[in-house]
Amino acid sequence: MIGTSRVAVVTGASSGIGAATALRLARGGLTVALVARRADRLADVAAQIAGGAGTAAVYPADLTEAAAREQVITRIAADLGPIGVLVNNAGHGYYGAFAAMPWPAAQNMIELNAAAPVHLSGLVLPHMLTAGAGHIVNIGSGGAHVHFPGLAMYTGTKAFLAAHSTAVHRELRRAGVHVSLLRCGDVSTEFFDSMAARSIRIPREPRKIPAERVAEAVWRVLQRPRRLVCVPGSMRLVAGLEQWLGRLLDRAPLDPNLRAQLTGARP
Ligand SMILES: NC(=O)c1ccc[n+]([C@@H]2O[C@H](COP(=O)([O-])OP(=O)(O)OC[C@H]3O[C@@H](n4cnc5c(N)ncnc54)[C@H](OP(=O)(O)O)[C@@H]3O)[C@@H](O)[C@H]2O)c1
Repeated sequence: MIGTSRVAVVTGASSGIGAATALRLARGGLTVALVARRADRLADVAAQIAGGAGTAAVYPADLTEAAAREQVITRIAADLGPIGVLVNNAGHGYYGAFAAMPWPAAQNMIELNAAAPVHLSGLVLPHMLTAGAGHIVNIGSGGAHVHFPGLAMYTGTKAFLAAHSTAVHRELRRAGVHVSLLRCGDVSTEFFDSMAARSIRIPREPRKIPAERVAEAVWRVLQRPRRLVCVPGSMRLVAGLEQWLGRLLDRAPLDPNLRAQLTGARP
């Protein structure tokens, strides 16, 4: 169901889900604009795409900056033509007590996980509406639905993205433009390593699915647009979980590392 434009923008394309998605979309014949900060890693992904006879171009940008978001969309459209697909994937995590989180770190997460996908969508939508075609895919998380202590900012930003994605999908239902949310479980990427680097010790080692599985789900939803895709399918259950698991979480003992962090946060 991809429209006439074969140009796809993938944010966070330098690793993990974004890199796998870029490779999958290029294999499907789309021209892929690769966006993230690490230019060398983007060039590696572009080289892999070119090696498979696909087409990609590299656009290094820090998506926490509004001006960079505007510049990158303008440049991509000027270089490659109208954007038909936007995959809002760039994002990062943080584990730690909110009271101990420095505001710049919290603000950075709001900019990357919440403001960037919404701003980028706002930038591409007018052109998609004019064309009467286009597809925005937002990479969400099961974490949006169960509000674990230690993940306040992450769960908050992902809940915002899920709610926004759903409402905009409903606004555009008859405009020929699709908005899909992928609700992902734990995926094997650099996400947990980069999260660990900015967090206190994370209490659990999750079971993870490969990034290629998410990339395949992105490809499939572009062929058959839907409001929500759960990867793995068990993520369908999490939306109702907070309702009853929430009561348990209200009473559960706090991770000792979070408790210690809260003690340290007192003046
Ligand atoms: N892994 C999981 O278990 C999981 C589960 C549910 C949802 N998700 C979501 O999936 C998305 C992708 O994560 P991943 O698992 O693939 O992790 P990842 O391998 O760490 O990828 C994160 C991507 O975001 C980019 N990024 C980070 N800061 C950026 C910035 N300021 N400007 C532009 N790009 C930036 C990174 O590139 P640079 O560092 O080069 O900028 C990287 O390409 C995230 O939105 C995450 O919340 C992940």
